[in-house]
Amino acid sequence: MSTQTFDMAAIEGILAKRKSMPGALLPILHDIQNVIGYIPPSVVPVIAESINVSRAEVHGVITYYHFFRQHPAGKHVVQICRAEACQARGCEELASHAKELLGCDFHGTTDDNNFSLETVYCLGQCASGPAIQIDDDLYARVSKEKFNRLIQAKRGVQ
Ligand code: FES
Repeated sequence: MSTQTFDMAAIEGILAKRKSMPGALLPILHDIQNVIGYIPPSVVPVIAESINVSRAEVHGVITYYHFFRQHPAGKHVVQICRAEACQARGCEELASHAKELLGCDFHGTTDDNNFSLETVYCLGQCASGPAIQIDDDLYARVSKEKFNRLIQAKRGVQ
């Protein structure tokens, strides 16, 4: 018995639209993640069959690119820029603090499913790092204290 809670019809629509284009795998994975929010593992064989590649190849691409999720994201996605300019402004210290505060690692989700923590490489705020993005909102010059306040505010509006 299936326990899937995602929209299989949407995935089939994406496959129908993309499967005959050259190099279809990455665009298919991007489309699925955009629509469903992650790549359900049970869909890997369906993707493989539709574009005539092995399941291992599809799985390999999903795991190679950290961008792709294999589980639904938390309610809020916290992205911390760890590119060069933000590194020079202390983003690694902020990254350690974020892991400790949220109690999860990068590419992980908190136990209460409220936050997923991700790395991003440049948010276009290089002169004002460390920069982070929470859901669709960008924040610059993020100290540990500011980070705490932002997370607390999100917890307050769950
Ligand atoms: S390097 Fe972090 S915003 Fe550009």
